[in-house]
Amino acid sequence: MARSNLLSTVKIFQMKAAGEKISVATAYDYPTAKMEDQAGMDVILVGDSLGAVVQGKQTTLSVTLENMIYHAEMVVRAVERAVTIVDMPFPYCQLGPEAAVNACARVVKETDATGVKIEGGASRASTIRAVVDAGIPVMAHCGLVPQSVKALGGYRMQRDWEQLLSDALAVQEAGAFAVVLECVQADLAQRLTKELRIPTIGIGSGSNCDGQVLVFHDMFNFAAQDPSQAPKHARLYCDLHAHIDAGLRQYIKEVKEGSF
Ligand code: KIV
Repeated sequence: MARSNLLSTVKIFQMKAAGEKISVATAYDYPTAKMEDQAGMDVILVGDSLGAVVQGKQTTLSVTLENMIYHAEMVVRAVERAVTIVDMPFPYCQLGPEAAVNACARVVKETDATGVKIEGGASRASTIRAVVDAGIPVMAHCGLVPQSVKALGGYRMQRDWEQLLSDALAVQEAGAFAVVLECVQADLAQRLTKELRIPTIGIGSGSNCDGQVLVFHDMFNFAAQDPSQAPKHARLYCDLHAHIDAGLRQYIKEVKEGSF
């Protein structure tokens, strides 16, 4: 497959200075990644959100490295242009720099993804530095970090300015090329976006970040869960659940009545 048009993380970093917004969405399989790439998505994230939207689990904590590699390999094979980033599952990057470098290197080697995403702020800085020093681009993830949901006491908006600033500056200094800001109060996300050299990619953090990321299944109501349970920040672009449900019912009807 020709991948000569492939974007780089350097280009993503430069988009901030150029004032060009960065589009990011998750994908977990070949056809979704192919459509996102052909539509012009800048970054395709193989998120550990697959634990919830693909595997039907309550949290992301049980997603394995093998799960991530399995999905990432399909996604990368579909992509000709976008930067592909693979979420590092719990707890490889919580175990310190050596375990993290080994796991991240395995992901990049076995999937050919562009880089990895690592959750956590100042406490994860030495790990991010080690992974970057190993030649692997890192997208950081601050604010609400779902892998630490037990310590955070639930999924809630993040409003502690001092903590947010020190985390974001720490991951920037550690060499991350961009940082996801999840569920950060919008005015604080805007302030962080002004403070940082690296692009901020918001989710539930207002429209003034340098880019936005959404979970594919939330954008298209493709999750198995009750749509009223979708995150408040998600925006629905097409109700796939309604279309597929109608199609399935029509098919069953036609088979039962013998017209198909
Ligand atoms: O796992 C994921 O999909 C993510 C995004 C929501 C940022 O981390």
